[in-house]
Amino acid sequence: MNKAVGSQWNATEMEEAARRHLLSPSEAMEKLGQSARPLLARGDGIYVIDAKGRRLIDGPAGMWCTQIGYNRHEIADAIAEQALRLAYNSPWYTTNSPSTELAARIAALTPGDLNRVFFTTDGSTAVDSALRFVEFYNNVLGSPEKKHIIVRREGYHGSTTLTAACSGRVGNWPNFDIVSDRISFISSPNIRLGGGKDEAAFLHFLVEEFRQEIARVGADKVAVFLAEPLLASGGVIIPPKGYHARFKAVCEEHDIVYISDEVVTGFGRCGEWFASEKVFGVIPDIITFAKGVTSGYVPLGGFAISEHLLDKVSGENARGSNYSNGYTYSGHPVSCAAALANIAVIEKDGILEHVRDISGYFAERLQGLADLPLVANVRASGLVGCVECLVDPSSPDVTDFDKRIGARIDAHCAELGLIVRPLGNMCVMSPALIITRDQIDDMIDILRQGIERAAAEIKRGELV
Ligand SMILES: Cc1ncc(COP(=O)(O)O)c(C=O)c1O
Repeated sequence: MNKAVGSQWNATEMEEAARRHLLSPSEAMEKLGQSARPLLARGDGIYVIDAKGRRLIDGPAGMWCTQIGYNRHEIADAIAEQALRLAYNSPWYTTNSPSTELAARIAALTPGDLNRVFFTTDGSTAVDSALRFVEFYNNVLGSPEKKHIIVRREGYHGSTTLTAACSGRVGNWPNFDIVSDRISFISSPNIRLGGGKDEAAFLHFLVEEFRQEIARVGADKVAVFLAEPLLASGGVIIPPKGYHARFKAVCEEHDIVYISDEVVTGFGRCGEWFASEKVFGVIPDIITFAKGVTSGYVPLGGFAISEHLLDKVSGENARGSNYSNGYTYSGHPVSCAAALANIAVIEKDGILEHVRDISGYFAERLQGLADLPLVANVRASGLVGCVECLVDPSSPDVTDFDKRIGARIDAHCAELGLIVRPLGNMCVMSPALIITRDQIDDMIDILRQGIERAAAEIKRGELV
């Protein structure tokens, strides 16, 4: 293909270029170059419009990020204005107004004394930088042996070398070198895997397992507990009530930093700016964020950190240290201007209140799918939910066959006008936060038909 950048390619030419030149995330390498992913042309509210002009409900809101929906002029205008006013400044020796104002806004929205904000470019770098901060912190404090990170199976924290190693979705690991000497995994708080225990007994088991892992490694060596409030990519796993507060208490006993990874739950997904305290009852030491901070319009991530941690390694406690971690684009003025506009829209349109109002209906409609033969479990919190499909819903085991069901449901739903984000056997719904009741009805009606069609295929023996 030999066309000038910016020329108007038609959809066929565009797909041909994608097939030949793009290397995309999660690429099945045997099939590299054989086909291109569906080309999206535009977005509008909760919908995307594909290259053929078909309008589809964007079930996962991109990758759980387009909170206020597509095509909002407020954000586009803020991006254009800031790009013209000051497109870039080096955060290594200057600052800019949007990042300063955004840091202050986020400090006011986070719980406790999490009053200082470090900006990165996305969720992976947010978590990576937070982990590097704790590494720095313990070295400055003279505890270089305190480096171990405890995470959960089925958690997801990113794609840098360190955050990928902290991600317990082991299907992503093969053929990468995974740091393993200072990371350990404990159970996912998925009650379906709890061997029939009730919620209280399961919680007791999880807390005891955490304590045992700390004892095994040595409390003087464990630096961090890193956890999503709900395991998003792990299939919207909502922990037993009180889980996070109990884990935080154990962390406090052993001087372990508690990092809450709110890359998915932050900025309204669960009806609050941040879910840690208001939804899950915990004030962490560090909160990481990305995605919804700009509603996905431009990349931005970061972490908010508590003053009590910073006090121990700054000012007269700094011991000559320099926190020399950062990015060319830390606090990028255009991204931060987009985030400020995004926050303004969320406030002006009452989007958090809307999520709180409508989430019960969303959960009820999703739960209504439980009568379908393939549906083993349905769970939801705020505007994120998951329908887990198994050929044998009574079994806790997910077979290789089950893992192919999501893709079939997705294919049927795409024909009917809905993008599903299949995670193996799980259909995750996390639409734009502006979704209305009628649109929830449309989304769930299509999902029902998609599941019914996949079930019929299985019955006819067409899915092997
Ligand atoms: C909880 C969580 N943390 C971190 C990340 C990584 O974010 P990014 O893909 O923006 O690097 C993700 C991505 O889905 C996530 O779900």
